[in-house]
Amino acid sequence: MVEEAESSRLSGAAVRLELAGDRMAVLAAIRSDLGPDKPLGGQRIALCGHVTAETAVQVNTLVELGAELVWAASSTSTTDDDIAELVRRSGVVVHGRRGMSEEDLRLGALAALRAWPQGPTMVLDEGAVMIRALHGELADVPAPVLASEKTPDGLTVLEDLDKLRFPVVKSDESFGKHAVDNPHGTAQSLVETIATVSGRMLAGKVFVVAGYGRVGTGVAAKARGLGARVIVTEVDATRALLAVLDGFEVLPMAKAAAVGDFFCTVTGAAGVIHREHFAVMKSGAVLANGGHLPVELDVAALYGMTKRQPLSPQGTEILELDDGRKLTLLGGGNIVNLAAGRGNASEVMDVTFASQVLALLNVLPQASALAPGLHPLPPECDEYVARALASSLGIDLSADEDS
Ligand SMILES: NC(=O)c1ccc[n+]([C@@H]2O[C@H](COP(=O)([O-])OP(=O)(O)OC[C@H]3O[C@@H](n4cnc5c(N)ncnc54)[C@H](O)[C@@H]3O)[C@@H](O)[C@H]2O)c1
Repeated sequence: MVEEAESSRLSGAAVRLELAGDRMAVLAAIRSDLGPDKPLGGQRIALCGHVTAETAVQVNTLVELGAELVWAASSTSTTDDDIAELVRRSGVVVHGRRGMSEEDLRLGALAALRAWPQGPTMVLDEGAVMIRALHGELADVPAPVLASEKTPDGLTVLEDLDKLRFPVVKSDESFGKHAVDNPHGTAQSLVETIATVSGRMLAGKVFVVAGYGRVGTGVAAKARGLGARVIVTEVDATRALLAVLDGFEVLPMAKAAAVGDFFCTVTGAAGVIHREHFAVMKSGAVLANGGHLPVELDVAALYGMTKRQPLSPQGTEILELDDGRKLTLLGGGNIVNLAAGRGNASEVMDVTFASQVLALLNVLPQASALAPGLHPLPPECDEYVARALASSLGIDLSADEDS
């Protein structure tokens, strides 16, 4: 009985993995172009990342390119245990299980870095967890030849580190992340989560976007595409002007708070919507944070001034103010598309993961000559991603090449 249930779960995971692979065209192009040459033959890779079907496609790609790999989960809550089991059965060590403690998560990353007596030759990091460990408690582990970091927060950590022991490619700063993931994938995922979880129609409503950066431009455009009347709040004059030129109304949050039906923060800053703003909101207003950290909405202040009625285990709540007005908070103020939605589509993760793989492949031949420190992603990686993605969309770029 137990075995039957496990086998049915694993076949479900195998289907999810296959579907993700079918939708990740850039990684497929890399496997087809370079797989037979095994350019990562002899490389020992320690990888930190969410244990999902999409990361499994990246892991399988690295193995097909010839690498030996150990994978450590990057979050206690996102691990897909069945995907982890499938990958383990293919011979890759995976540290992580859903619901593990933060301490076990940390120990998993350390174990991956200690997997080989000579240390890993490459580190693919998320949030600088592994790279930081190699500069602290694991400073005795031999330095890898090359590492890459795929999140902005991780890069901020690395910029603050005194002196890096080895070269690190900033794979976060890529065309894929900035031009595809942020304004299209993430923005779509945020707007669809807000609409679905709130169960509300956007057309005709006032949708306030805090922050007109890479993600905010996309959120504003996609909310407008669904018929919302969009207001932007910004602290940077150049970004505020761009929002005006794109046809959006720009207001300070103190004024937008009183007229908005939906609020989405995507600033990376803390306390963007606070007590004075909540106090003037219309009944029925929907609040969501799309920023990485749960600090953009002052949820503690909101809880302090309202009665709470939980609606879902994902942190959606109705919050009633003293005068009876009701606000809806989605995802408890956490990054809403991950906390309460289905997260980014496989196509979006494809460009991010492919940029990271291409960073390693392109830089590896000259890595031993590179100075320790942060290095930009070579432009040919962006070009490759753009071509492979365009081709998967059926776009023929050959005419431009011939002219
Ligand atoms: N939800 C997701 O899946 C997802 C994906 C990618 C990035 N993110 C997160 O989204 C956030 C924004 O990322 P980005 O790449 O657009 O950053 P960005 O730096 O391009 O844009 C942020 C913008 O917010 C503005 N801003 C800062 N403080 C503000 C304030 N108090 N009020 C109004 N505007 C303010 C800045 O001037 C800037 O223009 C980050 O926290 C990032 O980690 C989330």
